[in-house]
Amino acid sequence: MIRSVIVLLSVAGYPFAFLSLHPRVGDTAFAIGFVPPLIAASLLGMRAGLAVTLAVAAIDVADARSLGLVSTHRPEAAVISFGAKAALVVAVGFLRRLWLRLQAANRALDREVQLRQQVADELKRGVDLYHTLVQSLGEGVAMFDGHDRFMFANAAAERVFCAAPGSLVGRCLLELLDSEGATALKQAATRRSTGPVAYELKTREEGPNSRLLLVTETAVDMPANAEQAVLRVIHDMTERQRLQAEQRQLSEHMQRAHAVQSLAVLAGGVAHDFNNLLTGVLGNAELALLQTRRPDLDDVRHCLMEIQEFAQEAADLSRQMLAYAGKSPVATEAVDVGEVASEALRLVQTTAAARAQIVQEHAADLPPVQGDRMQLRRVLVNLIMNAVEALGERKKTIRISTATRFVAADELPGLAGDPESAPGEYVIVSVRDAGCGMSAELKARIFEPFFSTKVAGRGMGLAATLGIVRAHGGRMSVESSPGEGSTFRVFLPASHEPVSRHSRPSQPSVPIRGTGTILVIDDERAVRSTAARMLGEFGYRAIVAESGQDGLRTLTQEASSVRLVMLDLTMPAMDGKDTLEQLRRANIGVPVLLMSGYQQQEVAGLLGRPGVVGFLQKPIQMEELGRALRGAFCAVPSAP
Ligand SMILES: Nc1ncnc2c1ncn2[C@@H]1O[C@H](COP(=O)(O)OP(=O)(O)OP(=O)(O)O)[C@@H](O)[C@H]1O
Ligand SMILES: [Mg+2]
Repeated sequence: MIRSVIVLLSVAGYPFAFLSLHPRVGDTAFAIGFVPPLIAASLLGMRAGLAVTLAVAAIDVADARSLGLVSTHRPEAAVISFGAKAALVVAVGFLRRLWLRLQAANRALDREVQLRQQVADELKRGVDLYHTLVQSLGEGVAMFDGHDRFMFANAAAERVFCAAPGSLVGRCLLELLDSEGATALKQAATRRSTGPVAYELKTREEGPNSRLLLVTETAVDMPANAEQAVLRVIHDMTERQRLQAEQRQLSEHMQRAHAVQSLAVLAGGVAHDFNNLLTGVLGNAELALLQTRRPDLDDVRHCLMEIQEFAQEAADLSRQMLAYAGKSPVATEAVDVGEVASEALRLVQTTAAARAQIVQEHAADLPPVQGDRMQLRRVLVNLIMNAVEALGERKKTIRISTATRFVAADELPGLAGDPESAPGEYVIVSVRDAGCGMSAELKARIFEPFFSTKVAGRGMGLAATLGIVRAHGGRMSVESSPGEGSTFRVFLPASHEPVSRHSRPSQPSVPIRGTGTILVIDDERAVRSTAARMLGEFGYRAIVAESGQDGLRTLTQEASSVRLVMLDLTMPAMDGKDTLEQLRRANIGVPVLLMSGYQQQEVAGLLGRPGVVGFLQKPIQMEELGRALRGAFCAVPSAP
């Protein structure tokens, strides 16, 4: 815009300048007619210059006419002047165009230079960043050529191989490894084409400088190099391995110490209790022997009753220990836990009522649980008795409540019991007392067998309780603090079966009487002789065998006369299961009554086998044996 104004002014001012100069310099004043075309050509370009040249020529003609110079001037002079101006304008315009192009090229060059500088700066920043990153990595990073020679190693890799900075480049990795290193590298080389390969290596140094390395290697294509390079990330495992070994040792040590402690407590408890019971049994047996010399046998009966009572207690203790061992319940049926709690309460009423006020709060519509009524009652009895004993002298409240709720997965790990029990709906029985409570240390040990703060020889209560709960797929929790009382909760999976209403088994009011031969197969002499004597009492002839093979031999000889086989399940060499199998193979169809010290649940799989007519729990008692015989002979079609 400004340039156009300047050009216009020069064109407009030209006639004035010419007219004022002409009187002084004459026709030479025409020379200033070059100025406007030159200004126009240099400021606006060739075309504007030519236009101004034309305008100046027109002005010159007009001025010449007004000054009366037309007659003196030849037209060639005007043409020459115009031509000279036009040539000058073309030259200046051309130079101007060149100048402008040069300037544009300069500017583009400047921009290019700036851009390149920026790229170079960014590249440098990137390289610096990668360098710092790789050098400050805790993991060793190293690049190798095809002959496992170092092309690059970061500071961590140099530390691992105890090398000075920069000294690894050019060295072969094999020089730094132990004898197995070469094999590991060779094997990795065959697999690396399919992806990263990880393996362990050991450095050549011995002693404290020896390092165990976890190496992950990847094949890398190097653009500047036709050969493939290998990138190895090296993780120093030495310290971690040492810590792990230490930790393993410590935990093994603690486990061993704990196991030894538990075993010691267990062994002590068993020994103590059995000793006491056996003292009673042996003492009474001795007394009974003495009494048999006297005519009056009342004392003998008394002693024998005591023997029976003590032996009963011993059997009870072994049942508690079986429960602790988590052996499955004897029977499973749908049980109403509220009813079980009331039954348990009735059993302990006499002891509990004197020392505690017992409140029951049962949830309405409580779903049943699948389990063994007797064992669940034992759980409740144990918890209530513990609560009563925790109350001390003053009469306080014990609250027994039942509820049902959903137990989520995150709650289960905090509960003791069956580790496989899953989240779901649980029936919860709580026994809360306002007794002495427990310290955290005490609470940590209460489920250990024979751990008791009461008298020696006790402490199976909670161990058995937890065993029973575990066998029912349930869990337990304890909340307690000293002086604040305790709450024990038992979680049992809710069932949707209707509650079983079964009549109690009728007492064998009429003793069983029978005839015929029964074969008792048991490796325990005591069991064989006791069973034989009891069978004799029922009128049967008993023959015995001390092993499965012995029993099979007897049966092949006397198969026709034997009416029933009483078969122990746990025997060395050929156990009950194998014997049963052999009997079937030999086509001996005598009915079999199984016997075991383990719970019926353990042998459940065998009960459905052909020929198996029942199960008898050890220790064998007359009443149970009578019931089992009656059941066995009822199950046999040809029974008497
Ligand atoms: N409700 C409770 N309040 C305070 N302490 C308790 C409670 N229940 C259990 N304990 C503590 O836990 C210990 C172990 O209990 P556990 O029932 O296993 O054995 P015990 O009651 O000593 O003997 P028993 O074999 O006759 O049951 C108890 O000796 C007692 O110290
Ligand atoms: Mg107890």
